[in-house]
Amino acid sequence: MIRVESATVAFAQGGGEDRVVLKGLSLEVPRGQTVSIIGSNGAGKSTLLNAIAGTVPLVSGSIVVDGRDCTRDPEWARAAYLGRVRQNPLAGTAGDMTILDNLALASRKGRRRLRLAVTPSIARDLAGRVAELGMGLENRLRENVSKLSGGQRQALTLLMAVLSRPSVLLLDEHTAALDPANADLVSALTKRFIAEYGLTALIVTHDMKRALDQAGRVVMMHEGRIVADVEGAEKERMGVPDLVDLFRQARGSDYAEDRDLLR
Ligand SMILES: Nc1ncnc2c1ncn2[C@@H]1O[C@H](COP(=O)(O)OP(=O)(O)OP(=O)(O)O)[C@@H](O)[C@H]1O
Ligand SMILES: [Mg+2]
Repeated sequence: MIRVESATVAFAQGGGEDRVVLKGLSLEVPRGQTVSIIGSNGAGKSTLLNAIAGTVPLVSGSIVVDGRDCTRDPEWARAAYLGRVRQNPLAGTAGDMTILDNLALASRKGRRRLRLAVTPSIARDLAGRVAELGMGLENRLRENVSKLSGGQRQALTLLMAVLSRPSVLLLDEHTAALDPANADLVSALTKRFIAEYGLTALIVTHDMKRALDQAGRVVMMHEGRIVADVEGAEKERMGVPDLVDLFRQARGSDYAEDRDLLR
């Protein structure tokens, strides 16, 4: 589970007052729940994920993961119990290392002692997991990751993020840079890994249809706050127009403008 309590984040702006980007935001996600996070550009979605991951500090508030307050943990320590995939397929893997070495590093994440060699049994296990991606990458384990396509690389990054069975999986528009076919493929993998590994996940997306399809709960952000939060039967009844309409009500603007902002 993850609990964000009254989180405030501010960034210095040249000269004037700090810009407050998260405004006392609170969000609790129970273990095993997937939440889609939507909202217009600049709403603070990435900042929320960055605050959870420890890449930006809170001015006030706290972050609790599986009952433990981790507000003061540095980013590297949080990497042991958080999995992350960002928009850029180049960001999550080391291009000049092989598929196998990238995976081996990811699977040791959070362990105190790094074993240096990839033993044959570890390699077999990792090859099996790569095969599950259905991309034939198990035959290319010794190739550098820089040789892969964006979709293959993002699928690998996703696998790396879930290998250590993180307490919380943070996905920030992780399919946005992919072509439609690869976006669908990585989305399907995401759903499968979350179900198989019983993960708690926060998924930021601008794709309203995916937001509804991939999660049992949808949280809408606007100007650093949560302005709508739907789950259960209410969420199941919703289609994309209902979601856009809800957003319009929550922030008070016209439908056409929202369509542009959200899509
Ligand atoms: N490191 C930073 N320094 C200064 N300002 C920042 C920083 N990161 C984010 N901001 C500002 O915080 C606000 C929220 O940004 P954020 O990236 O969280 O929005 P977002 O909801 O993820 O938007 P998008 O949908 O465009 O990705 C924006 O005004 C942005 O300019
Ligand atoms: Mg963002």
